[in-house]
Amino acid sequence: ETIQFLPPLTLVLAGPRGFCAGVDRAIQIVERALQKYGAPVYVRHEIVHNKFVVDSLKAKGAVFVEDLAEVPDDAPVIFSAHGVPKAVPAEATRRGLTYLDATCPLVSKVHTEAERHAADGRQIILIGHANHPEVIGTMGQVPEGRMILVEDLAQAETVQPADPENLAFVTQTTLSVDETATIVAVLRRRFPAIQGPRKEDICYATTNRQAAVRAMARRVDAVLVLGAPNSSNSRRLVEVAKGEGCDRAVLVQRAADIDWAQLDGVRRLGITAGASAPEVLVEEVVEAARRRHTVTVEHASVTEETITFKLPRALSA
Ligand code: F3S
Repeated sequence: ETIQFLPPLTLVLAGPRGFCAGVDRAIQIVERALQKYGAPVYVRHEIVHNKFVVDSLKAKGAVFVEDLAEVPDDAPVIFSAHGVPKAVPAEATRRGLTYLDATCPLVSKVHTEAERHAADGRQIILIGHANHPEVIGTMGQVPEGRMILVEDLAQAETVQPADPENLAFVTQTTLSVDETATIVAVLRRRFPAIQGPRKEDICYATTNRQAAVRAMARRVDAVLVLGAPNSSNSRRLVEVAKGEGCDRAVLVQRAADIDWAQLDGVRRLGITAGASAPEVLVEEVVEAARRRHTVTVEHASVTEETITFKLPRALSA
């Protein structure tokens, strides 16, 4: 019998990581709706940006579509956590559909800010990434042309609002905290009268997950971020790790996607997960590591999260 030598590997698990309160609520809305109405329940867009979550809800009878037009008249429909333009619930109402809104309350808060600025006659700069569903949803809260998108520092330097005296900004909730601070600073310098939140609209979960990765990045040889390629907050975690000098930071969807050869020589491996990635995906990675290494697990937590969000009234009984 041969005794296999397994090289030692320390896994450093960042905290907080993984599900935020908005994702947790959105998934619960789909599950409760399936119980209440029975399958199929339609969901407009991926409820949260994670294939594993979407597949497990599909298995329970959720049907994912990109367009409301694909939802039959007699089926309930849920709007994803990212939020939707006002035209979407309006169309659902026009068609007499039963709908539930799983928009994260922290995204809805940004929608309310935008509406207030528009009502007060201001033009609004939205700091965010083009084509992300949250950006499409936030833009769709105000009349067309009222909101301009600024994606980066270069655009913040060149954007030409109609009236700098009547200007506001809002942001996407899942941006890089550091990059957004520099963009906001440029806007405030160029347009001193600009109105907006005290800092930005980045949510607590995004802020905490970035802080946890930042704290860990210099104390590990590589970082794995569990998350989907279309998950904004997950992609930002990779950037934060790299920005802190950890060049070997990669986004992976699950353990099977890890290129272990690429991690050769790594003694301390940091692990985190985007706000839409379930903890089971982290557990899978720990198990996969144990098959190749003698593993020690360390926890590196920067803060505790206690926030939870209520379900919509229609489902809360
Ligand atoms: Fe909401 Fe932030 Fe999560 S906006 S869905 S709490 S990442």
